[in-house]
Amino acid sequence: MATPIILDCDPGHDDAIALLLALGSPELELLGVTTTYGNQTLEKTTANALRVLELAGRGDVPVASGASAPLERKLVVAAHVHGESGLDGPTLPPPSLAPVSEDAVEWMAGVVADAAGPVTLIPTGPLTNVARYLDEHGAEGLERIVLMGGAIAEGNMTPAAEFNVWADPEAAQAVLDAPLDVTMIGLDVTHKAVTGPDVQRRLRDAGSIGVFVAELVDFFTVYHRETYGWDGAPIHDAVAVAHVLRPGLVQTKLRNVEVERESELCRGRTVVDLWHRTDRPANAHVGVDLDSAAFFDLLVERIGRLG
Ligand code: RIB
Ligand code: CA
Repeated sequence: MATPIILDCDPGHDDAIALLLALGSPELELLGVTTTYGNQTLEKTTANALRVLELAGRGDVPVASGASAPLERKLVVAAHVHGESGLDGPTLPPPSLAPVSEDAVEWMAGVVADAAGPVTLIPTGPLTNVARYLDEHGAEGLERIVLMGGAIAEGNMTPAAEFNVWADPEAAQAVLDAPLDVTMIGLDVTHKAVTGPDVQRRLRDAGSIGVFVAELVDFFTVYHRETYGWDGAPIHDAVAVAHVLRPGLVQTKLRNVEVERESELCRGRTVVDLWHRTDRPANAHVGVDLDSAAFFDLLVERIGRLG
């Protein structure tokens, strides 16, 4: 039986690739997509989710738009990485479909209640929707959360913090505090999922959706070349989907993770107690390694299935 999932995302180049990976993988049943502010405003991330679903011929997948701002913090979007549209690079027509009328949290509650089995949430943006959902509906009906966010080592939005957690640290802490199995796929793992010329070539040979993904990567590479000198881009969010899809690709360790919320300097830092320096209880499976070659083999093969 396919694993029922909901993708909570802020497309965003890597979110879009994560969405396409999910669509190309019959092991997953994508119940729907919820959107949040993050890489761009909620309006733009929602439009981008609809555009990508339509491109893949999956206008049947419902999209519910959610949070337009963090629980407490000021809204900051990552236009410097993803561009003015949030999905700059390839040409994509505006969406012809609309999101469902319900807010993301309300829609999620209905879908979880009606699902045939426990639902896996895969958040790949700021965690505001997920925190609100857990606060209003609790963990009942959820299998686990596999999120892209955080880092054991350095951050990317600041030296201390990864963007998704930095954007809404209070929401991230609430997710970690929930009575639920949580997996944190952080930068330590996703920075091992950096494309290169060979992956780009394989994507372009994989069909029209593969060409689209390669064009997304071309744009996403600009920021990463300027920042890190890489000849490619980290497909952060697709690693979270791949972890649900193919257990074993990502190695994890069960550890305590807390989020810094007081300091401005270290706002949003995920403090991972990797070596048991404290007696704080473990609350997350933390990604520590990735089989990069196997990840890209899976990604290219599944994108190729989309035609
Ligand atoms: O820090 C990387 C994360 O922030 C990714 O999910 C990217 O899409 C942005 O949301
Ligand atoms: Ca994202």
